[in-house]
Amino acid sequence: MKITVVGSGYVGLVTGTCLAEMGNHVLCLDVDPVKIATLQQGGIPIYEPGLEDMVKRNAAAGRLSFTTDVAESVAFGEIQFIAVGTPPDEDGSADLQYVLAAARNIALHMSEPKVVVDKSTVPVGTADKVKAQMAATLAERGVDIAFSVVSNPEFLKEGAAIDDFMRPDRIVLGVEDERAIELMRRLYAPFHRNHDRILVMDVRSAELTKYAANAMLATRISFMNELANLAESLGADIEQVRLGMGSDPRIGYHFLYPGAGYGGSCFPKDVKALVASGREQGHAMRVLNAVEEANEAQKRRLVDKLVKRFGEDLGGRHFALWGLAFKPNTDDMREASSRVIVAELTRRGATVAAFDPVAAVEAQRVMGDNPSLSFAPDMISALHGADALLIVTEWKMFRTPDFDAIKASLKQPVILDGRNMYDPAWLRELGFDYQAIGR
Ligand SMILES: NC(=O)c1ccc[n+]([C@@H]2O[C@H](COP(=O)([O-])OP(=O)(O)OC[C@H]3O[C@@H](n4cnc5c(N)ncnc54)[C@H](O)[C@@H]3O)[C@@H](O)[C@H]2O)c1
Repeated sequence: MKITVVGSGYVGLVTGTCLAEMGNHVLCLDVDPVKIATLQQGGIPIYEPGLEDMVKRNAAAGRLSFTTDVAESVAFGEIQFIAVGTPPDEDGSADLQYVLAAARNIALHMSEPKVVVDKSTVPVGTADKVKAQMAATLAERGVDIAFSVVSNPEFLKEGAAIDDFMRPDRIVLGVEDERAIELMRRLYAPFHRNHDRILVMDVRSAELTKYAANAMLATRISFMNELANLAESLGADIEQVRLGMGSDPRIGYHFLYPGAGYGGSCFPKDVKALVASGREQGHAMRVLNAVEEANEAQKRRLVDKLVKRFGEDLGGRHFALWGLAFKPNTDDMREASSRVIVAELTRRGATVAAFDPVAAVEAQRVMGDNPSLSFAPDMISALHGADALLIVTEWKMFRTPDFDAIKASLKQPVILDGRNMYDPAWLRELGFDYQAIGR
């Protein structure tokens, strides 16, 4: 099939590349000429394990190409995926300007029927808005060309995006016309040869499913964070509690890890957008408001612990920070807890030396103007002369570090672990003042 993907970010690029890997011909469009030039020259603008090789392989085979030319991209694909950003507006609702601009562009240039697929995470009712935008644009042009709008929310996880796309748990299709259902089934058939994973439903339910899934995951995290904070006060170990809870199959072990708060491009904005949808419909969404509030507080949890240890005024203190990305295996810094922590520490007068194996370049872009923040070339040199080490992202390379070297480099053997990486008893035995979350 010939497919166009509008928006070549994390989701668009992975979608386009995986569809090309299955033999389709894919053209990825973006408005960002730097991104497209990088891709055309064989580079990739983001870090995602395995993606660069797959992009190169499919580009070399002539199945994957990149453009900034809207007319070319509209003419190319019978299926037009929309995978542009849907950032939060001022009131927390999803800003649909990029989605609607993409829809308008398609309608402005199309000369034959198209199936338009919303892959961006969009609130209920967006497919109707896309439809109305396209109908109005076609009417302006004085032409009558058939099109369908499908909702196909994406569930991939950054850091494991290729695997998630190639072996999806489910493929949700919100679609109302038979021809589009048939086409989408054919497109996705190679991705679920083992058994059918397609869930066809009405468009509104498909749109809501994506928010429901992310909001549920965020709720589990905030719930565990609150429980962890309580466990600390009560002298219980949240790790033991997690095992005791998770063994109940109704609860399960997944996503019960307390930490320094959730971040990323999805959970924070999707929780806000669902709260905003609730507000518009007269529903207070009390649970999700609390999820959000608890997460904001949790991002400051490590700083609270530091303040308890070193006092309110951190002037003259220097701290090492391991992990900047919002989670391992990505360079994504959107809403990362590290941003809140660095801002708060430096506001209190401290300096911070940070290390991240992948996200340092992106962190430099978003936080580089903070003169109290420096970037270390490796994990040990970040520690020199620091009053404490803070761990914010659970990269694998932090799992079994050289604790002798850590002790020798730090001014004081203090570790504040926002991701519960180590055994507290062992760290105490090694002579560290070790504080984790809920232990
Ligand atoms: N990142 C994730 O893990 C993830 C997972 C599932 C769903 N989503 C959803 O997918 C959508 C995209 O997310 P992302 O992380 O890929 O965003 P992103 O910011 O990485 O990429 C979006 C891209 O769209 C481009 N763009 C904007 N307007 C355009 C237009 N009119 N024409 C062509 N290109 C345009 C931007 O330049 C950018 O490169 C969002 O709605 C997000 O919520 C993201």
